[in-house]
Amino acid sequence: MIAPSLLSADFARLADAAQQVSGEADWLHVDVMDNHFVPNLTIGLPVVKSLKAATPLPLDCHLMITDPKRWAPGYAEAGAYNVTFHAEACDDPVGLARDLRAAGAKAGLAIDRDTPVEPYLDLLPEFDTLLIMTIKAGFGGQAFIPELLDKVRAARRVAGDLELRIEVDGGIAADTIEAAAEAGADAFVAGTAVYGAQDPAAAIRRLRGLVDD
Ligand code: DX5
Ligand code: ZN
Repeated sequence: MIAPSLLSADFARLADAAQQVSGEADWLHVDVMDNHFVPNLTIGLPVVKSLKAATPLPLDCHLMITDPKRWAPGYAEAGAYNVTFHAEACDDPVGLARDLRAAGAKAGLAIDRDTPVEPYLDLLPEFDTLLIMTIKAGFGGQAFIPELLDKVRAARRVAGDLELRIEVDGGIAADTIEAAAEAGADAFVAGTAVYGAQDPAAAIRRLRGLVDD
């Protein structure tokens, strides 16, 4: 799965940005930041509702917010495909995952740069997606941290027969995507590498070509 991140697109033209990748992307990654969980402010539920009406692409909503228990179900009800919240922000990840699934969404758990994955490995059957940050959450355009792929390897080892997507987010580009795939990731977020390119659709094709068997 390739999920271009709108964080690197023109925020005044989000529908156009979705349209630019609609023939190539698997998911559209939407970075929701509340200037509290991370020191950056992006977009919220009203924009996600509008995007849902503007594109047929499945919306991969990455909630970098405090108190996801309060807000995340609204994204599921708005028709988001994946609703991914941060482990660091939630004291009942299993309860919230069940609520999201009950609301018709896939449930995702995100692990930020400084958080070990081990405490969460037992919870993976409750989730559809595990998002391993390969940077510190908050901003696009940061350098990929290869050491964080150890978390992908650890999760892939225990995932076994689970239908679990392991998604990587941060610094994914032509020079890093293969290492992430080798570690066991099968969903790739790319912001700068897609929307910073002259031709976003061609950038996705190039990334896909590097990881498709
Ligand atoms: C950052 C976001 C990422 C961001 C990645 O916290 O979660 O999705 O868009 O941007 P790049 O691909 O530029 O690292
Ligand atoms: Zn993201």
